[in-house]
Amino acid sequence: MRPLRLIFLGPPGTGKGTQAQRLQQQLGIVPLSSGDVLRREIKEGSEVGRQAAEYVHSGRLVPDDLITRVVLAALDRLPASPGWALDGFPRTAPQAEALAAGLSQRGLSISAVIDLVLSDDEILRRIVDRRVCGNCGATYNVSLLPPKVAGVCDRCGGGLTQRADDTRDVIQTRLETYRSQTAPLVEYYRQRGLLREIDASKSADSVARQILAVVQRLETGA
Ligand code: AP5
Ligand code: MG
Repeated sequence: MRPLRLIFLGPPGTGKGTQAQRLQQQLGIVPLSSGDVLRREIKEGSEVGRQAAEYVHSGRLVPDDLITRVVLAALDRLPASPGWALDGFPRTAPQAEALAAGLSQRGLSISAVIDLVLSDDEILRRIVDRRVCGNCGATYNVSLLPPKVAGVCDRCGGGLTQRADDTRDVIQTRLETYRSQTAPLVEYYRQRGLLREIDASKSADSVARQILAVVQRLETGA
């Protein structure tokens, strides 16, 4: 079977990270979140982290050349697997073009683009209640998808914290940034026959089932 190369598209807080983590648990597809990579670089105080920090904390996009370099290098380091899923990259037309060129140089191509569709009201509700494990990165929601023990990660026992960019003001900037710079990619990938729209308003289990159905159709060529 050919390895799957997926992209998770969709505004902030629609469940890209949650569903990418589930695909890893279910099928071994390795998730690569551009936001997680940047937050790690910022925490470590690396040169990339210093360049990215102001953008990430204010909810604006880091420059295309910087994030493209970082993501392509991270893809090259991924272990052999049944495939990978990019979460949060690409987010602009130049990033999409650079990804297509970079993959083509490596003899690879995108299998499908999963677009998670959700209303702004629900996005806001989900993000303000989000908590993330500082150790393994697992994502929870104190009202909608809580951990078994408050403040503690089910998976590794790590402590749960709130992301620095999960404030109402920054969420508004992230939504506006999505609309002006990332939303055009929906049409870009639709025209290339790669777009698969998913109703992200359902439960996490139901969304995961919709995505699995997409993956199964890709595998059978249906
Ligand atoms: P990034 O980390 O990618 O943030 P984002 O796109 O804003 O997306 P989120 O991580 O907020 O949401 P998500 O869709 O992953 O939702 P989640 O699964 O957590 O980017 C951060 C920043 O980095 C950017 O602002 C930018 O500065 C920079 N950056 C990153 N990539 C870049 C790029 N390519 N170019 C330039 N800059 C870049 O779910 C959200 C919540 O909902 C959680 O609490 C979860 O538990 C809950 N939830 C999930 N699914 C469900 C469900 N079905 N029902 C109920 N609750 C649910
Ligand atoms: Mg995420």
